[in-house]
Amino acid sequence: MKLHEEPVLIANGITKSFKGKCVIKNASFSIKKNSIVGLVGKNGAGKTTLMRILIGFLKADSGSVCIDGVVRKNNTKTSGIGYLTDVPVFYEYMTCFEYLSMCAGLLGIENSRIGSEVDRFLKLVNLENSKDKKIKGYSRGMKQRLGIAQCLIGDPKLIICDEPMSALDPIGREEVADIFNNIKQDTSILLSTHIMSDVEKLCDEVIILKDGNLTKIESLDEVEKFSNKSKILEIDFTGCKKDIIDNFELIIKNKKITYERIYKKFRINNLSDQIIADICGIFCNANAMLMFPRSINIIDKEIDEFF
Ligand SMILES: Nc1ncnc2c1ncn2[C@@H]1O[C@H](COP(=O)(O)OP(=O)(O)OP(=O)(O)O)[C@@H](O)[C@H]1O
Ligand SMILES: [Mg+2]
Repeated sequence: MKLHEEPVLIANGITKSFKGKCVIKNASFSIKKNSIVGLVGKNGAGKTTLMRILIGFLKADSGSVCIDGVVRKNNTKTSGIGYLTDVPVFYEYMTCFEYLSMCAGLLGIENSRIGSEVDRFLKLVNLENSKDKKIKGYSRGMKQRLGIAQCLIGDPKLIICDEPMSALDPIGREEVADIFNNIKQDTSILLSTHIMSDVEKLCDEVIILKDGNLTKIESLDEVEKFSNKSKILEIDFTGCKKDIIDNFELIIKNKKITYERIYKKFRINNLSDQIIADICGIFCNANAMLMFPRSINIIDKEIDEFF
């Protein structure tokens, strides 16, 4: 085991303004090898701008980016990083195999290796059985996986994926999460997202962008706490008798749980494992049937609500 490994990316003092409005203010952070880092922030926070600066598609006003030990000159495109845009566009008349073969050729992979290399990436993203199908017939999830395969060509040390899961249904998100977890042993991943449950499931670290300022959460415990802040536990007693509801309210007051009551519904913010255990305990006791609510749900807040 190596005791110390250089980060795969070091960003130092990145600043970017558009028409006098500062979108990124003096951002410094690093990305470790074999880690998945979530980049979160509400719409317009500057996630795409930061990613485009890191990849070298956009010039920062100041600051530097160091990839795998090499400082990149401003505004030069970087090798060693794969990039998946928020709205990937493909040549849809091509098959997936043709498209990836073309990309591999453009990246300088020798002709004799292209077929086997493309097959390797298709396997990683579970598209080997659809490789001869035209891309225009692909579902959204398949296109997203094709985009991931595309950015893996050349075995970059880091891939940067802008909202790779946002447009997908839960099964599609699960498939992409599995791919990221599998490839993390060979590449680090920076991904932006609005979906906090994906952050909790996938990310080792989280970068938060708010009002141009960047904060990094570096431990799994802190990531979990941050993710819990994005959830509300809603307990709905609609249809239950008033004394049952008042009794429940008294119990949670005694347990010093902070809540908001909206008629027969209780909403509990800032969830922790202890609060969830306390609430489960209430319904597991002998009188539970007397005070069982109509529903108990954990709701994901919109990112704007807890930032
Ligand atoms: N080329 C540009 N010219 C002028 N303003 C820009 C440009 N690109 C981005 N901006 C502005 O910078 C801010 C950050 O935009 P950015 O697209 O980076 O946010 P984002 O966090 O990716 O948002 P979203 O969640 O909607 O994708 C926004 O106010 C946007 O209008
Ligand atoms: Mg964006």
